[in-house]
Amino acid sequence: MSTAKLAERVAIVTGGGNGLGAECARVLAGHGAHVVVLDIDGEAASRVADEVSKRGVQSMAIRCDVSSEDDVKDMAAQVKARFGRIDVLHNNAAVLSVDQRQRDRDICNLDMQAWDRAIAVNLRGAVLCSKYVIPVMLERKSGALIFATSGLGMQGDLSLTGYACSKAALMMLPRTIAAQYGKQGIRANAVQIGLAPAENAHGSMPAELLEIIRDNHLTPELGTPRQIADVVAFLASDEASFVTGTTLVADGGFSSHTPSLVAMRALFEKMGRSSM
Ligand SMILES: NC(=O)c1ccc[n+]([C@@H]2O[C@H](COP(=O)([O-])OP(=O)(O)OC[C@H]3O[C@@H](n4cnc5c(N)ncnc54)[C@H](O)[C@@H]3O)[C@@H](O)[C@H]2O)c1
Repeated sequence: MSTAKLAERVAIVTGGGNGLGAECARVLAGHGAHVVVLDIDGEAASRVADEVSKRGVQSMAIRCDVSSEDDVKDMAAQVKARFGRIDVLHNNAAVLSVDQRQRDRDICNLDMQAWDRAIAVNLRGAVLCSKYVIPVMLERKSGALIFATSGLGMQGDLSLTGYACSKAALMMLPRTIAAQYGKQGIRANAVQIGLAPAENAHGSMPAELLEIIRDNHLTPELGTPRQIADVVAFLASDEASFVTGTTLVADGGFSSHTPSLVAMRALFEKMGRSSM
């Protein structure tokens, strides 16, 4: 019998066809989990599921729009029928296309369709997946839910109003679920992610912007999808059996320092000193 920390567990990764979700699918499989890759982009989900199955575990690809209750209900039934259990739900899906980001602006210029889509996918989607997966977890009195959130859900910024508000709610949702189902063996946590761009995201951010954000992380470099996936695998596993109802911050210190730090560092460098 395998001693891998997620051996025989069944994990669902929403938005698993690309980016961080795809890396989480690979890493969870590397720890022995059978992985369901769910995405609105069915071809991307199939590609990742095929890749994952080469790691000696079972995989399943499902095309599913997480904002659709019918799709999500059907998805949970398919997973239950195939595996008979669900141990991990990583609520990772979010609408982050360039078009969405350009319309999800400051409040006076906010395109309300973009707001509605951000809330529908990022928040309602996570609620729906939880709603239909938790009953399957309860059958075995065991399960771990993880919610992908962001510093933008904690700190004010110039744009992405809908995204930020959806991510703020994703810090509350795991606390609510932990309170409601903790005594029945369900754990729920959020991961507050710093900038950890996957290869597919590099081209979509201007280099100057990346530089500013890198300066505001306390680590030498921005994060990597693998660093985030390792945190997700920890929260999914029994190593985190006493961790619930909280937000684990994996952001390279982005949210931990004084707002003036970067300007102060530049000032000291100009003065030829390392501190006051
Ligand atoms: N990458 C980062 O640096 C970063 C930073 C902070 C937070 N996050 C969070 O991590 C998660 C993953 O981000 P990413 O950068 O990998 O994004 P991404 O855009 O590369 O991947 C998101 C995936 O979600 C899927 N998706 C979109 N709408 C969907 C829907 N309605 N139903 C099902 N799937 C849908 C997309 O097809 C895509 O595969 C998101 O929740 C994001 O907010 C990422």
